[in-house]
This record gives sequence, C-alpha cells and structure tokens, in this order.
Amino acid sequence: MSPEFESHKPSYARVGSGPVALVPRVNIQAFCESPETAESIQVAFADRRMARAHGTVVTGGIPAAVRLYQTQSTPNLLLVESDAPRDVLLADLASLADVCQPDTKVVVIGRLNDVILYRDLIRRGVSEYIVAPVTPLHLIEIISSLYRSEKAVPIGRVIAFVGAKGGVGSSTIAHNCAWQIARSVDVETTIIDLDLAYGTAALDFNLDASGGIIEAIAEPERVDALLLDRLLVRLGAKLSLLGGSGGVDKDFIIEAHAVEIILTALRATVPIIVVDVPNVWAPWVKFTLLHADQVVLTAEPELASLRNTRALADMLKAARPNDPPPTLVLNQVGVPKRPEIAGADFRKAVGVDVAAVIPFEPQNFGAALNNGKMLLDMVPRSKAVEVLRRLADDLSGEKPAKSATSGSSLIKKLLVLGKK
Ligand SMILES: Nc1ncnc2c1ncn2[C@@H]1O[C@H](COP(=O)(O)OP(=O)(O)O)[C@@H](O)[C@H]1O
Ligand SMILES: [Mg+2]
Repeated sequence: MSPEFESHKPSYARVGSGPVALVPRVNIQAFCESPETAESIQVAFADRRMARAHGTVVTGGIPAAVRLYQTQSTPNLLLVESDAPRDVLLADLASLADVCQPDTKVVVIGRLNDVILYRDLIRRGVSEYIVAPVTPLHLIEIISSLYRSEKAVPIGRVIAFVGAKGGVGSSTIAHNCAWQIARSVDVETTIIDLDLAYGTAALDFNLDASGGIIEAIAEPERVDALLLDRLLVRLGAKLSLLGGSGGVDKDFIIEAHAVEIILTALRATVPIIVVDVPNVWAPWVKFTLLHADQVVLTAEPELASLRNTRALADMLKAARPNDPPPTLVLNQVGVPKRPEIAGADFRKAVGVDVAAVIPFEPQNFGAALNNGKMLLDMVPRSKAVEVLRRLADDLSGEKPAKSATSGSSLIKKLLVLGKK
C-alpha cells in the first residue's frame, strides 16, 4: 500500500506527565465526524499552548479531506476522525495518502481500541492514533509531542507567584519555595524577579545583584541561552536568579513579548522557573499568569485580598480551562486583634481550595529579612517553615496538592460576595 504517508516516528506522548511544550506556528486542519470530537478539538485550539498554531475544524471525516486536498495543498498537520470499520478506515487513509504532501503529519482519531490496527497505522506513516473520546489536553499533548525533537532538552515548568495585594508576602513565599525546591528536589531552579524597580529577590538572598532582568527585558531579541547564562546570578548549588532591582532612575516598559522570549529561553534550559510577579495589573502581567504552568495566588485573610483573589481566580479558570486552578495560599494568618476571614469562607467565595495557611510570624520573617537569609534556614523549626516546605513539595510536582482549609466562621459580607 505504498507510498502511503511519509513515515513519521510515532510520538508516544507523555500524557499527563508534566508540562507540555508549546505548539509551534503550524497549520492544523481537523476533519471530524462527531460533534464531541469537534468540540474537544475546538477547545484544544483555544488553549494557551496552541496560541501560535492555526487550527480549523470542519466536519465530513476522511472523505471530506480527500475531496478538499485533490485541489489544495495539505497543511502541516491533519487530524482526521473516523468511526469506520478497520478495512474502510485503511482504504480511506490510502486515498488520503494519495493527496497528502510528504511533510504533512496525520493523526487519526478512531473508535477501535486495537493495538494491531495502531501498529499498522504507525507503519503506514500515521503519526498517532487516538481512541475516541479524546480530551482537549490529551490532544494538545499529542500535537505538542509531534513537534518536539527527540533530542529536545526537557522543558521547564513555570510557576508564577502573585499577590492578591501588595505586601501579602508573595515574593517571600516565592523565594522560599524556590530555595526549598532547588534543595529538596535537587533540580536547577531559577527565580525571575519581574518587579523591576522594587524587586526584593536579591535583597532576600543578601546579594548585590546587577540588573540582569532589566538587560533581558530591554533587549529581548538578544536573549538566548548564552546571554541568560551571563545574566543569571548564582544563589545556591541549584538555584539562580534573574533579577536585580533597577531602582527608580529609569522608566521601564515591559512588553508581554519580552517576557515570552525570556520564559521560552529559560524553559529550554531550566527545569523549574519561579516567576515573582509584582502586584500590578498590565498586559504583560496577564500574559505571564495565563502562560504559566502553575499560578500561586497569595492572599491575606481580609476582604480586599478576597475580592482580588476571586477576580484573578475567575479570570484564570475561564482563560485556562485545561489547566489546574491556581494554588491558593493564605498568608499572615493570625495577626493579633485583627478580624480575619476563615479559610473555609475563602474557599467558598473563591471556588478554589486553600492549599496552604501560613501563620503571621513577624519575628521570624523579620529576622530572616534582616539577616539576608531564607526563612527555611533562619527558623527551620517554625510553623511557617513547615507549611512552606509542604507547599514547595506540592508545587515541585513530587506530591499531589493537599487541601488545608481551616476555620469555619461565616462573614455575611463574604458570602454575599461569594454568590456572584
Ligand atoms: N507570614 C508572615 N508573617 C510575618 N511577616 C510576613 C509574613 N509573610 C511575609 N511577611 C513580611 O511581609 C513583608 C512583605 O512581603 P513581600 O514578600 O515583599 O510581599 P509581596 O511580594 O506580596 O509584596 C515582608 O517584610 C515579609 O517579610
Ligand atoms: Mg513582591
């Protein structure tokens, strides 16, 4: 049945095992038979990881594709659905192969769960065979894996930390988590401090860092592995920093595009990237949060934090339907004499489990800050450190996240807010 499709190595996608590489600028055309598959593909095409690809979905299955490509050239990738029996499927694919350009990859979505058919299709040059029903994330992973070279270095996981308000402790938590991940998981970890004027990452590590991040943000077109290597400052055996506050003498303009270039370059070389996102709202902030593999949202147990947390969580959940919800951290809990919103009420209003509750420990946090040490080293036996360690372990992907919701008293105002 030659020539069939040009032979492509099957992808063996790492389904559900870590971050998925972004799909490059490819044209994808899907020919579906069922509305469910068409819907899944539409959702996949709208995902952040496919933002650079161009995909369209039509109905009609393989016969429609064969008709169309008799007069048109085929795109980079064809997704075809067929619920035909084996013989018809093979005959349809043979007709498709006749009109298919050699460099077009073909992924088949079928109903037959049959390993012999699978092997037969791969032998004929089909890149992947997926048994329906197919979920959007599975599809994205399959497509992504088709465009990853086998030699590709592992891709980094981006964890973005943002506070629901200024001063809630987001940066402190980000730096301590990065420190713990680098040490306990023993993988190279990089902190990027995107608070260009006031960033505290260097300060927290007692370092007089140059403004590496400012150089990278100002000239993103120069950013490559070599430049990043020069700009990164070492903080520990496995931890480095791209940061260094630039003060207020210069005006900084951050383009989402510059952040994208820096994160893409880092993802190619560093397994874990902790992004310290300042509490401002700008297109590049939104971009950073939307394109992170995980967002850690830190809030204090009070009303303004609650309102902002809910707004951010709603936005993230709506824009990232195929990603886990943000990791919600309640910090500075237990300030003497302060009326506070209970964790359970927070969860109810935000619709996201509280992953960690960190107590207010002004003496411990102050001592760490003044000594330029991480809290984890300064007061290793404190309650806050115990929680931070668990949070870091959860974020590193080593263990599943746990819910740590506490407290139960109801605040009327909060519940009204929670009803939407
Ligand atoms: N749980 C806590 N208890 C006491 N002080 C804290 C706690 N968490 C953070 N802090 C302190 O709050 C201040 C603001 O923290 P920072 O991480 O800079 O906040 P953000 O990045 O959200 O603006 C710092 O001085 C920090 O040491
Ligand atoms: Mg900060």
